[in-house]
Parts: sequence; C-alpha cells; structure tokens
Amino acid sequence: MNDLASVIESARADFAHAGAPAELEDAKARYLGKAGLVTERLKSLASLPVEEKKARGAEINAAKQAIETALAERRADLAHRLLEMQLAAQALDVSLPGRSRGGGSIHPVSRALERIEAIFASMGFEVADGPEIETDWYSFTALNNPENHPARSMQDTFYVDLKDDEGRWLNLRPHTSPMQIRHAQAHARRYAGTAVMPDVRVIAPGRTYRVDSDATHSPMFHQVEGLWLGENVSFRDLKAVYLDFIQAFFETTELKLRFRPSYFPFTEPSAEIDVMFEHGPLARRWLEVSGSGQVHPQVVRNMGFDAERVIGFAFGSGIDRLAMLRYGIDDLRLFFDGDLRFLRQFA
Ligand code: DAH
Repeated sequence: MNDLASVIESARADFAHAGAPAELEDAKARYLGKAGLVTERLKSLASLPVEEKKARGAEINAAKQAIETALAERRADLAHRLLEMQLAAQALDVSLPGRSRGGGSIHPVSRALERIEAIFASMGFEVADGPEIETDWYSFTALNNPENHPARSMQDTFYVDLKDDEGRWLNLRPHTSPMQIRHAQAHARRYAGTAVMPDVRVIAPGRTYRVDSDATHSPMFHQVEGLWLGENVSFRDLKAVYLDFIQAFFETTELKLRFRPSYFPFTEPSAEIDVMFEHGPLARRWLEVSGSGQVHPQVVRNMGFDAERVIGFAFGSGIDRLAMLRYGIDDLRLFFDGDLRFLRQFA
C-alpha cells in the first residue's frame, strides 16, 4: 500500500471513530488542516523535480478528494443521527388514549331545581333569588308569625352572631317564604300610585336551614317558594298550577293531588299538598310534597299591597323531597355526602 492509500484509510477510520461533529472537525484538521498529513505532502511537492511534480501532485489531489468525500459523508451521517435522536426524544405515540379529566355531571338536586324552574317559567313565573342570612322581620314577623311562635326558637332556627337594625339576631332562613315578601315588596314599590293591577308570579328556590338531622331531614336543605298575586287569583288557580307542575315534574298524569287542611300563620286557609302515584314503587301512598294556602291579608299588607284588591296563593315545596321521589332515593343524606359512587349514577 503506498503512503497515500494508508493516509486515506487512516482518515476514514478516524472519521468513523468520531462520534460527534466537534471530534470529526478535529480529525479533519489532522489531515486537511494547515499542518495536516495531506497538506504537508502538498507542500513537499515544491522540493520535487519538475517531471515528478505533476504525477505526484495529481495523486495527492486525488487522495485529498477521497478524504473530503469521506468527511462529507461522515458529516451527513452524524447530522442524520442527531436528527433521529431528537425525533426519538420528542416522539408522540398517536395511538395512546387521551388523558381523561373525568366527566362532570349535574347534582340530582340541581337537576330537580332546573326542571322546576323550567316548568314554572313556562307558566309565566319569574325566578327570584334572595339572601340566606335573613332578618327576623322577613323570616317571621312579615309572615304573620306571632312573637312567641315556636319556629323562632333556638331549637328550630340557626341564629347568626349579628344583629339587625332593630337589635334582633339575624337567622339562617328556615324557609324560602321571606322571598315572597322581598319580591312582592319590590313589585308593590314599582306599582305604587299607578292604576296597574299587580300580577306577581314568582318562584324562589334556594338553600334553607333548620336544626334537624336524620334520614329525611338535613340541617341544610332546599325549598322552592311559589307566589301568585293578582286581582282574582284563587285557591282553584293554586290547584291547577300545582297539578300542572307535578305532572310535568314527574312526567306522568297518572297521579292524584290532595289538599289536606293545615295551618300556617302566613296563609288562610292553609293546606298541605300530598301526591299519590297510581303506578311504580311508591304507588297508592299519600306523600307530602308541599305546604300551601291563600296568602293571609296581613301578609299582603306587609308586602305593601292593598289587601282589599290583591289576593293570591303561595306554596313552599321541598326540592330535596321532590328529587328523592323522582329518583327513588330513600336517604336525604346521600345528596350531601358527596360520595361519587352515588353521584355518578346521575352522570
Ligand atoms: N314555609 C313553609 C315551611 O317552611 C312552607 C309553606 C307553607 C310555604 C305554606 C308557603 C305556604 O308559601 O303558603 O314549611
């Protein structure tokens, strides 16, 4: 093997050995750099006799070209390997299943509430919202509760460690009935001094609180208050509206309603509303779903209306109870435990 052939071979071996671009450039310098093996040989041409120069020059140039070709190949090789490594590091496996966040769902009480709102909205009722911390006047006095009524007692109502302007303790509203007063008052103010006959149709759903806890009572529960006041709104309208509502809510006409005489200070006459299904697991039992009655004239006055002109009905229904009946749930506490095994069934 002549010396040039061994230089080419050694250059190829060095290039192959270089694992990174910088090493390759070092190897290149050893052959093609200023003091490189090939460069030195080119320089040595000067000392050769003229007749040898041409042939030797051509040989050295051929060797130089062979080394340059090997260098270019190795450069391309290394660049390709680098790209492969980068691609492998960023690899996306498009066949992997996506990371799921878990589907949310609407709580059964919220579901019941949404249905109630939609049904009453279709009958022209507004939906009102009000404070959960109430004054004594809105929770009791305006609703015609006598001063010593047991509902005011500490055993039934949660009190807040704050007093209102009259020096009375604020309470966590024990029912949604204060919203009858608040909403009607706003209407009465709007219509005061005009000849327009008021037509107040509203439901007020929300959280309510009582000192009570067992399978069918929770210290926090939900009620929906209903109120319709106008010139000639009678008990008959209450029956029609409530029957429409219950039939729509339970999606069946195969049920009966019963208005059972009762007592509430804010209505006269007053009735509990019971429902009986003709079919299904709850068939042929009267189930209480609501209190109701004709709004007491004193309450109408407390709202700011003329009780000689304005008359109407009100009701207060337990939303949790309606949801329990609709979904066949026998323990109210399941709604508030937050157990996903229960809640997922409504997803
Ligand atoms: N506020 C009553 C309760 O909490 C329910 C109720 C009864 C509301 C009769 C009414 C009504 O509006 O007319 O038990």
